Amino acid sequence: MIPLIDFFRNLFYKSGSRILRFLEVSEVRAALLRLREAGHSIHPSVQVDRNVHLRVAPNSRLIMEEGVQILQDSWIIVEEGDHLVLGQNVFISQHCTLSGTVTVGRNTLIAGFVTIVDATHVFDDATIPINQQGGKKQPVSIGEDVWIGTSSVILRGVNIGDHAIIGANSTVTKDIPPWAVAAGSPAKVLRYRER
Ligand SMILES: CC(C)(COP(=O)(O)OP(=O)(O)OC[C@H]1O[C@@H](n2cnc3c(N)ncnc32)[C@H](O)[C@@H]1OP(=O)(O)O)[C@@H](O)C(=O)NCCC(=O)NCCS
Repeated sequence: MIPLIDFFRNLFYKSGSRILRFLEVSEVRAALLRLREAGHSIHPSVQVDRNVHLRVAPNSRLIMEEGVQILQDSWIIVEEGDHLVLGQNVFISQHCTLSGTVTVGRNTLIAGFVTIVDATHVFDDATIPINQQGGKKQPVSIGEDVWIGTSSVILRGVNIGDHAIIGANSTVTKDIPPWAVAAGSPAKVLRYRER
C-alpha cells in the first residue's frame, strides 16, 4: 500500500492538481484520517469542505486543533520541513491559501481569498533568472482572535498580534501590534480597538 503522502504527491505531481480539485467531502475526510495516521495532529472535530486542497509533504508537521473549519477551494500547503498550526476554532473562508510555516492562533477568522505565505524568491543576482535563484522562507505568526479581511496578503516573516484586525485588500509587510486595526498596501495601523 502506498503511504498517503506519497499518494498525494503522486496525484499532484504526476496526474496534476485537476484530480485533487474533484475531491469530495468523503474523500477529504478520508484524507484527514490518513494524515492523522501519518502522525499529523488533526482533531476529530475539524471540518473541511469539498475541494479543499491539502498538500502535505513528508517530514512536515500539520496541526489542526478542535473546531477548525476550512471552506471550499482553499489550499493548505505544508512542504518538507514546514510546521503549520491552526489553533482552536480557527475559521478559514473560501479560496484562501496558507503555505509554509504558519501559525494561526485560536478563534482567528480568515476571510475569503486571503493568502498567507512564508516564502519569497531571491532576486539578488541580476545576471541569473529569478527562477534559478531559489527562495527564502521566514515563519508567519497570526495571533489569537485576529480577523483578516478579504483578499489580504500576509507576507513572510510577519507577526500579527492577538485581537488585531486587518482591513480588506491589505498587504501586510511588517508586524502588526496586538489590538491594532490596520489596513492598506502596505498595511498601516489606523487605530487601536477600544478595550
Ligand atoms: C478595517 C475595517 C474593519 C475598518 O472598519 P472601521 O473601523 O469601521 O473603519 P472606517 O470605515 O471608519 O474607516 C476608517 C478609515 O480607514 C480607511 N479604511 C477602512 N478600511 C480600509 C481598508 N480595507 N483599506 C484601506 N483603508 C481602509 C477608511 O477609508 C477610513 O479612512 P479615512 O479616515 O481617511 O476616511 C473595515 O474597513 C474592513 O476592511 N473590514 C473587512 C471587511 C471584510 O473583509 N469582510 C469579509 C467578510 S468577513
